[in-house]
Amino acid sequence: MTAPLLEFDDFRLHFDTFDGCYQALDGVTLSIAAGESLGIVGETGCGKSVTAKSVLGLVPSPPARVAGGDLRYRGRSLLGLDEAAMRRIRGVEIAMIFQDPMTYLNPLFTIGDQMSAVIAAHDAGRPRAQRRSASQRRRLAADMLARVHLPNPDIQLTRYPHQLSGGQRQRVLIAMALSGSPSLLIADEPTTALDVTIQAQILDLLDELRRDLGLAILLISHDLGVISRVCDRVAVMYAGTVVETAPVESLFDDPRHPYTRGLLASVPHPRKPAQMLAGIPGTVPNLLHPPAGCRFQARCPSAVPACSQQRPATVSLAPRHDAACLLLAQRHVHEPDPHAA
Ligand SMILES: Nc1ncnc2c1ncn2[C@@H]1O[C@H](COP(=O)(O)OP(=O)(O)OP(=O)(O)O)[C@@H](O)[C@H]1O
Ligand SMILES: [Mg+2]
Repeated sequence: MTAPLLEFDDFRLHFDTFDGCYQALDGVTLSIAAGESLGIVGETGCGKSVTAKSVLGLVPSPPARVAGGDLRYRGRSLLGLDEAAMRRIRGVEIAMIFQDPMTYLNPLFTIGDQMSAVIAAHDAGRPRAQRRSASQRRRLAADMLARVHLPNPDIQLTRYPHQLSGGQRQRVLIAMALSGSPSLLIADEPTTALDVTIQAQILDLLDELRRDLGLAILLISHDLGVISRVCDRVAVMYAGTVVETAPVESLFDDPRHPYTRGLLASVPHPRKPAQMLAGIPGTVPNLLHPPAGCRFQARCPSAVPACSQQRPATVSLAPRHDAACLLLAQRHVHEPDPHAA
């Protein structure tokens, strides 16, 4: 098995607010190997973006505070890195793209100027002899635009962000992200603002980059269809916890956690006839006062009294298929899963 590129190890993140301590992430454990694509899915507010932003130190602290666990890149903790050390990782080892490219593009500068500035910032961390000249930066920017299939890259470099469509702007952001030759690309809802056809093209591009460049991808979406198009594996989050992790196929074919089952009942299976849309009754717990035990217990159709007493440990149900549910753990101990290795 390949050593993980990125590892969340029982990672906990709290926000100190005027109302009290908001326990946003409660023991997130996840890993991504080099060249792998992992999706994170879950409903709004479950902690997907906070998980992603924590990797690059992008959650403002305060109010955020790491309350436990670790976050490692190539075996080295990312927690407590100073700004200079984080700059050597950001963009060069790990790059990130977001939902709205316009927020990250300056309307007053051309695409070429902005891409050159990003490349110069990467060069700032290199020995002087290895830094690129202005024309080399421009060349690399054009190459990256060609890499993301923007036609006429030299012309695109002279354009301003408002002269591009939403899909083209997202391609520019991906090109900028690639310009530092990262090993991991984190994409937080990169296609949510785009229409369906353009969304599919951007997802296909991400998949192509993974295959051709060996780029690992952490793709965040509330849409399992988006994740299944690009990812090998998917982690399902609920109220700041990871409830189930599985290869995408196994998650669709054999969901094990009661929350995942509810979630799948509410989306049509891409390869099965459309089902009735079911929702999950109840509401997400208030993370200022999370319940003891399992965070899903109040909405869980299978909950037993023990679920409110102990935090469910994560159990391995099959190779690469884990879930955090007390009932699955008990069943697993008493009746071994026939799929287990
Ligand atoms: N700076 C902050 N201060 C206090 N709470 C915060 C802060 N940033 C995020 N949160 C809270 O952390 C929780 C997780 O937020 P996050 O943005 O990660 O959700 P998400 O899963 O990405 O949701 P969405 O699908 O809507 O993007 C939310 O309840 C949010 O209100
Ligand atoms: Mg988000």
